[in-house]
Amino acid sequence: GGTPSATFAPVTHAAPMTSLDNAMDGVELRAWADRVVKGLDGVVPRFVAELKIDGLALSLRYEHGVLVQAATRGDGRVGEDVTANVRTIQDVPERLTGEHVPEVIEVRGEVYMPTDVFAALNVDYVAAGERPLVNPRNAAAGSLRQKDPAMTAKRRLSFWAYQLGQVIGGPALATHRETLDLIGAIGFPINPEVRSIDTIDDVAEYCLYRQDHRHDLGYEIDGVVIKVDDLAQQELLGFTSRAPRWAIAYKFPPEERTTLLRDIQVSVGRTGRTTPFAVLEPVFVGGSTVSMATLHNQDQVAIKDVRPGDTVIVRKAGDVIPEVVGPVLENRPPGTEPWQFPTICPCALRSTLVRLEGEADTRCVEPACPFQRDQKIMY
Ligand code: IVH
Repeated sequence: GGTPSATFAPVTHAAPMTSLDNAMDGVELRAWADRVVKGLDGVVPRFVAELKIDGLALSLRYEHGVLVQAATRGDGRVGEDVTANVRTIQDVPERLTGEHVPEVIEVRGEVYMPTDVFAALNVDYVAAGERPLVNPRNAAAGSLRQKDPAMTAKRRLSFWAYQLGQVIGGPALATHRETLDLIGAIGFPINPEVRSIDTIDDVAEYCLYRQDHRHDLGYEIDGVVIKVDDLAQQELLGFTSRAPRWAIAYKFPPEERTTLLRDIQVSVGRTGRTTPFAVLEPVFVGGSTVSMATLHNQDQVAIKDVRPGDTVIVRKAGDVIPEVVGPVLENRPPGTEPWQFPTICPCALRSTLVRLEGEADTRCVEPACPFQRDQKIMY
């Protein structure tokens, strides 16, 4: 969502790009299914379950089989014209193929950055001394909004198609599955994990399976989207003011949260190596409460430029180790300064800390340091 910028021309969508209502757990999912059955006068529909790709929604308009416009979702009614940049995405066909290409067709889907592309990009960023990108979704958004399409091309974005907007002509479609088959036949990548499922119990089971296996894919997902398969039933159910009644997003519990960075302190290891760590307002993320997180070393703190008093994004790296991703700059209190690494050991001896040239670590070199001694004993 968001207001269109001045850089990209506004595009009024021929058919609005609505959002989805969310189900945060199995209970809310079943409550949605009950509403659907009620809306269909007791008829139990068949469902299609798709991955909820964590990227950005795009609407691609083709006239006579040729890409004429690519637009972001924006506020759902008016998006931004990103055609020049989208033309550089390999997964997006310039021309549609096959016998069944409608006169006008708007294909909607998600543009995303695969996780390996994101990791490689961040290696380049850090090597260039820049702040690492927060997550693949932000990286995809930034890549799509480049002024120079050549920059977008370098970012190797990908695309999964999952829905239609305006369509004029073409074959009659009875189900969402048929819609996906048509979109695939005319040249778009359809996610291979799409499932047709008969009962809401099996849908719920699939959602939990996906939640447990969300990191097995080469891209990020943040849930499962469940759609009523039959298009006549979809029509009957219709829309609320903001979302279709015939679809729901089952959202995975977040693995990223924001919280207050209360302080940055330094711990001393058994070899005297010091490690800065974040003291956080406790926050529940990825299945446990986190109140401390490593900041690794001085350079990492400088690159992330996190400051006490900042609101920071916290996530579970590899689902286990809490990590401070970076500050939410909009929430930074006025008058803060970049954090300075201490020059004196936090122990009672207050000896001077040393960082040798070419080393990432700062060390306490005092042999009698009680912190080092305690860590040695524990080791
Ligand atoms: S369908 C009318 N299917 O989720 C239905 N959306 O929270 C339109 N998304 O804005 C959306 N994967 O950006 C649909 N398989 C999928 C999706 C999907 C990701 C995004 C999309 C949408 C947002 C809603």
